Amino acid sequence: MSVTVRVPAKVNVQLAVGAARADGFHDLANVFLAVGLYDEVTVTPADGLRVTCEGPDAAQVPLDRTNLAARAAIALAGRCGRTPDVHVHIVKDIPVAGGMAGGSADGAGALLACDALWGVGASREELLDICAELGSDVPFSLAGGAALGIGRGEQLTALETGGAFHWVFATAARGLSTPAVFREFDRLTAGLDVPEPVASPELLAALAKGDPDALAATVSNDLQPAALSLFPELADTLAAGRAAGALTSLVSGSGPTTAFLARDPEAAARIAGALRTSGTCRSVRVASGPAPGATIVGNAA
Ligand code: C5P
Repeated sequence: MSVTVRVPAKVNVQLAVGAARADGFHDLANVFLAVGLYDEVTVTPADGLRVTCEGPDAAQVPLDRTNLAARAAIALAGRCGRTPDVHVHIVKDIPVAGGMAGGSADGAGALLACDALWGVGASREELLDICAELGSDVPFSLAGGAALGIGRGEQLTALETGGAFHWVFATAARGLSTPAVFREFDRLTAGLDVPEPVASPELLAALAKGDPDALAATVSNDLQPAALSLFPELADTLAAGRAAGALTSLVSGSGPTTAFLARDPEAAARIAGALRTSGTCRSVRVASGPAPGATIVGNAA
């Protein structure tokens, strides 16, 4: 018996960041769009908890209990009074430490898979609650589509989208730690009046219309200056994608993956080709969004 769940990556089309709160987190207005790059998480009964991972970046994935997939299994098992005796296998396609919620995807995937494997039947609300305990981006990995996240980013409201948006993603030679990028944001904004984060009505309208030009004109990421400060070479990648015809370019979440919006799939292919030969990034992927959230794709007896 095993259960396999497929979970998408995300790009933040708006990431408005407020001042640091007393608990160290930042209030956000976080507009998430799930995109069609997926990790697959398979859970199988085992003697104890074990995590394995395959894929080009598998060596960078922690296989201990800091892995969000392991933490998800432990959290659900704790809620239903059982031990998390499960082998979690991750087939990783989402860039690691890239600002695309790859770790969060594995947490949401393992949670949904263990729920099915153990026949728990947790409600959507219970699953989203556990996701929020695991991390700020994990509820969105479960939900998918497009959503506004407020609070730490975990309080979600689903958003309408009027069509598919075509993206190119460039991964970087090294990762960036999300806490380090938020710390750099704090350093760069020290002494400044940081406004309350609010979602842009123009951006939400662009998403609802499915209008890539309007979306390109309104995307924003308040973490981008911090990511560029820690990783200045990303400016070259952003410039290369714009020179290749991207409607806009931005750092995805806390980075260092950079995201490029294209008008249509053909333009995305052209931009991807130019980035691949630009010498400014490690690898290039094309994906469109919105994509569905965590979904059970296999249930083997
Ligand atoms: O919630 P999560 O564990 O994914 O967050 C990772 C880190 O990112 C936090 O420890 C914190 O440093 C930073 N963070 C933040 N404000 C948020 C979300 C994350 O400062 N809203």
